[in-house]
Amino acid sequence: MRRFKLSDNAPEVSAIAYGVWRLADDPAGASTCRVREKIDACLEAGITTFDHADIYGMYTCEGLFGAALAEAPELRDKMEIVTKCGIRYPCDGLPDVKVKHYDATRESIEACVNRSLTELRTDYIDVLLIHRPDWLTSAEDTAAGLQTVIDAGKVRSVGVSNYSVVQFDLLSLYLENPLATNQVEISLLHMDAIHDGTLDQCQREGAHPMAWSPLAGGRLVSGGDSDSDRAVNALKKMAKAYGQTPDQIALAWVAALPSQPQVIIGTNQPDRIKSAAASESIQLSRADWYSLWESAQGRPIP
Ligand SMILES: NC(=O)c1ccc[n+]([C@@H]2O[C@H](COP(=O)([O-])OP(=O)(O)OC[C@H]3O[C@@H](n4cnc5c(N)ncnc54)[C@H](OP(=O)(O)O)[C@@H]3O)[C@@H](O)[C@H]2O)c1
Repeated sequence: MRRFKLSDNAPEVSAIAYGVWRLADDPAGASTCRVREKIDACLEAGITTFDHADIYGMYTCEGLFGAALAEAPELRDKMEIVTKCGIRYPCDGLPDVKVKHYDATRESIEACVNRSLTELRTDYIDVLLIHRPDWLTSAEDTAAGLQTVIDAGKVRSVGVSNYSVVQFDLLSLYLENPLATNQVEISLLHMDAIHDGTLDQCQREGAHPMAWSPLAGGRLVSGGDSDSDRAVNALKKMAKAYGQTPDQIALAWVAALPSQPQVIIGTNQPDRIKSAAASESIQLSRADWYSLWESAQGRPIP
């Protein structure tokens, strides 16, 4: 598995990351043994980056993962842990939260990091991301929070998720440590970041983006509406030509972007983790990449 530094001041990561958003929804359960099965499948395939958020599984996924780490603490040195903070969702564990909202204030960042460290049973986070821009907090306040957790040795590098180009630039103005990444949605069915300058900004800043939902949450495999059906058919055809599976071609399409996104997969099936890891060696030709763009968009390129 190819590896690269997420950015100059961030850790080295695997080209494919494993996202734990769906960990609590696994039809096979969320026992420590099942979670460990997926961690092992990742590590065996060279996937060493695990993408978390405090909110995943209604604030349970970090704890499920942490329980597996507690049973095998030697695994911590073999992985990079990314987690996100800043979304507050009403649930039993957060009785004070009455309305879903964003909170990227300094105070909130510090509290979230402390909680994540406890849940994940670790004493540091490799990369902390602000999950979504908080419209009510100044960039200066958010930057102060990020700097505080870095200075405390709790977080090694920081980044953002779902930030616009301007929001990324603004926050960067107040940070001593450059942002390591912008984690955004990228797939054949979601191309905003390709067209709105987000990925160009990442190239300019020397920060690899992280690509979430590269299979559009499964729509690129199952189809079900006219856009995804068109893309699924094109992927099936291309997969035959390359001797690969359609999901592998869809992942390779994202990985081919010149900003070199770290592609975050989200399957709960260990076999699919292995197959996704193998997609890393697929090189789509320029013609095939553009042909998939056209099939997914349902129109020729301008
Ligand atoms: N920053 C953000 O705002 C944000 C938002 C969303 C997600 N994320 C991150 O991105 C990660 C990945 O997102 P995602 O789960 O939506 O990724 P995805 O890879 O686009 O979708 C995974 C889903 O597709 C299904 N699927 C169906 N056929 C598949 C096949 N052949 N191979 C693989 N998967 C198949 C999986 O089901 P099975 O489990 O049955 O395989 C799973 O439900 C998340 O875990 C999270 O870490 C971040």
